[in-house]
Amino acid sequence: MNRDICQIEKTDKIYVAGHRGLVGSAIMRSLKRQGYQNLIGRTHAELDLTQQEAVRAFFDKERPDVAVLAAAKVGGIHANSVSPADFAYENMQIQCNVIKCCHDYKVKKLLFLGSTCIYPKMAPQPIREDALLTGPLEETNEGYAIAKIAGLKLCGYFKRQYGDHFISCMPTNLYGPYDNYELSGSHVLPAMIRKFHEAKCSGAESVELWGSGTPLREFLYADDMADACVYLLEHYDGEEHVNIGTGKELTIAALAELVKDTVGFTGRIEWNRDMPDGTPRKLTDVSKLHELGWRHKIELEEGVRLAYDWFCENIDSARM
Ligand SMILES: NC(=O)c1ccc[n+]([C@@H]2O[C@H](COP(=O)([O-])OP(=O)(O)OC[C@H]3O[C@@H](n4cnc5c(N)ncnc54)[C@H](OP(=O)(O)O)[C@@H]3O)[C@@H](O)[C@H]2O)c1
Repeated sequence: MNRDICQIEKTDKIYVAGHRGLVGSAIMRSLKRQGYQNLIGRTHAELDLTQQEAVRAFFDKERPDVAVLAAAKVGGIHANSVSPADFAYENMQIQCNVIKCCHDYKVKKLLFLGSTCIYPKMAPQPIREDALLTGPLEETNEGYAIAKIAGLKLCGYFKRQYGDHFISCMPTNLYGPYDNYELSGSHVLPAMIRKFHEAKCSGAESVELWGSGTPLREFLYADDMADACVYLLEHYDGEEHVNIGTGKELTIAALAELVKDTVGFTGRIEWNRDMPDGTPRKLTDVSKLHELGWRHKIELEEGVRLAYDWFCENIDSARM
């Protein structure tokens, strides 16, 4: 046991903010698998984290020992590019309220979830943690990224000024159970699963996908990401954030072929080049995570199969 790391116990009361989302639900599953017994969560309807007084009343009543901040207003390229004010403002509100309460109510460990959109658009690839704030951001999700940068810096500042054990991680693109399949707000992989599935069911001849298919992207199965988060809660205490990814990439066109084959759609793919591509390449450097002792286990082919199986089994309750 490393005595320099703030230890969390299996009996600690752990609050997972956003416990029904893609990330939060996977973290709940991982914590349960690893023997943590005292887990709490609140839905958005039960506790709106943008409301400062409500968040304070919740912490005052529940007094969690450990917190994971996986609640956020999240969306794809389209939603982000048309509503930058909402993405920036609501995420800053959520983060400020939860992080400050974690400090005031002496939460012994906090894990803040950001995402790799915090890095400069033209960051050298693969992207190392120290590429943060070295250049301009991708314009389409700048509001969201600015909020996330503020959140991870705030955690670091509380650690530096007060010695709080507040850590941050930056997962790459995720997919898996409880993903968002609503086309106006979903990410690329769940959007493909839904589009190919519906085309297969309706007998359509083609499926339209956004952009050129040329950007390079990395994808991590949500349960792998969650295991990495629990690992960091147990083994990491540094001020700098940690990337979570596979370190492997493929083109969006190659991803489309994989999802198409997994779903069993036999028609054509048509690329709509009028829609934006986003950053040309985004691959995380995961050396720091590997040095800490964690590696992903689920490869993309298996993960897409698992995600599609979940989608088919939960089609009536999935976010559509
Ligand atoms: N998905 C990815 O590929 C990815 C990649 C890297 C990092 N991340 C990070 O992981 C975190 C969670 O993302 P996700 O993909 O899990 O998103 P998600 O599936 O949309 O889940 C977000 C969760 O936050 C809750 N929430 C949103 N606004 C809230 C509010 N005002 N008050 C209380 N709860 C609120 C949502 O509750 P409702 O559903 O009830 O609104 C939902 O449970 C984000 O910080 C994101 O940056 C995600």
